[in-house]
Amino acid sequence: MAEKKLLYIETVGCQMNMLDSELVVASLRQQGYDLTDAPESATTILFNTCSVRQHAEDKIYSALGKLRRLKQSYPDKVIGVMGCMAQKDQRRIFDRAPYVDLIVGPGQLHQVPELIERVQGGAGRQVEVSLDRTAGSLEQIKRSHESFDPLRDPSMRPSPWQAYVRIQIGCDKFCTYCIVPMVRGPEQGRPPEQIVAEARALADQGCREITLLGQTVNSYRYRENGKSTRLSDLLLQLHEIPGIDRLKFVTNYPKDMTDDLLRAVRDLPKCSPYLHVPAQSGSNRMLAAMKRGYTVEEYREMMQRIRATIPDAAVSSDFIVGFSGETEDDFRQTVELVEECRFKNSFIFKYSERPGTKGAEMLPDDVSDDNKRRRNNELLAVQNRISAELNEAMVGEEVEILVEGPSKAARDRGDAGPVLQMTGRTHCDRIVVYDGNIRQAGQLVQVVIYDAHSHTLFGEIVTSEVRHDLHSIS
Ligand code: 5AD
Ligand code: SF4
Repeated sequence: MAEKKLLYIETVGCQMNMLDSELVVASLRQQGYDLTDAPESATTILFNTCSVRQHAEDKIYSALGKLRRLKQSYPDKVIGVMGCMAQKDQRRIFDRAPYVDLIVGPGQLHQVPELIERVQGGAGRQVEVSLDRTAGSLEQIKRSHESFDPLRDPSMRPSPWQAYVRIQIGCDKFCTYCIVPMVRGPEQGRPPEQIVAEARALADQGCREITLLGQTVNSYRYRENGKSTRLSDLLLQLHEIPGIDRLKFVTNYPKDMTDDLLRAVRDLPKCSPYLHVPAQSGSNRMLAAMKRGYTVEEYREMMQRIRATIPDAAVSSDFIVGFSGETEDDFRQTVELVEECRFKNSFIFKYSERPGTKGAEMLPDDVSDDNKRRRNNELLAVQNRISAELNEAMVGEEVEILVEGPSKAARDRGDAGPVLQMTGRTHCDRIVVYDGNIRQAGQLVQVVIYDAHSHTLFGEIVTSEVRHDLHSIS
């Protein structure tokens, strides 16, 4: 009998990487692979990597370092590095980990099964990456970044009723700190028919929530035969699909937050009133150095339009602290923006200089690590207070949640049995835990919120009696 093929895969980074890993696993399943969570027993070990910050790369190099011995003892195991770090470092990965067999950029993931076979057939190390952004005509570079969207396999997702759908690859914004345009290539929209067909197939498989993915998802445009499709047009088409209850999209670029999109979110009940629109800084000096393409006044104006059009929208943001030349005064302005915008949550990052970006070439990384850490902690404390206040304001409200499964605490405790602490998300993307039943996973249920922390709401399932009580109170 042929040896069982086992795959160990580790993924770091953004939702795009989660989706890429899901698709690679699906394509390897078709070749007879099963998943394992032990690298020692795997025949193939893959890392799907991220280059956005140094820390993410260090983690992968350290994980690779731990495999040196294993590979010495079992030279037949195939070790592969995929994704953004593979594209950025290419053959340089061999300098630090010569026992790696496979280096595959994000634009070549469809080749993974064949490349593994080549290694196993004795062809030696394989490297497949896209052209660098200056290494050819725009058309050649675009073609070298192929989108990878094969048939889906619901068993590969953390939950079968939620799925990511890619609508765009690459990025053309070139923010000075960011490596993404270099490793994921030029912005390219996916044809709307393909997106709708994939969403329909997902709905047929029982998927209820779709999150559309793009680096600047609201810049999405697809032009064909004189017709142009925007994200708002796409949402309208996806809204028609029976079985899909929720539509989300990430990540938005502030300058492209157009009124047609805000109206679509307001008017289409399946669209979540949740917008992730990273501001990055509250200082015009920093925004200009980052080449973000907007001023803080323009960001504020955009927030006002969001609040005026969709009053109940939850807005979240990303911030970078300690970017080149950031003074205490610049940082204060970021704190002010966070206070004023009252984001549902913010992801806060210390600036990490990325070789290959304009920032690394032209601007000194001159804020000390101590200052970066202090500003990070301070901004996080402000944001956490605001998140807690917004969550506390929801106590007593009845909300509909899409149940995802047992809560993290229940999983960590190894709780079993039908009655469990469960977790789900509101339409505006807030996490709710409640005591429920495993059978509710994948369903929309009503809960009343009775307590709140900065990251979590606590709810109680609404039975018909509770609902009756609530009505009689009001
Ligand atoms: N250093 C720190 N944070 C970064 N981000 C992108 N590039 C860097 C960098 N070089 C952050 C931005 C972006 C998020 C995904 O990661 O805030 O929105
Ligand atoms: Fe990076 Fe800016 Fe593109 Fe976002 S918009 S992926 S931060 S270059």
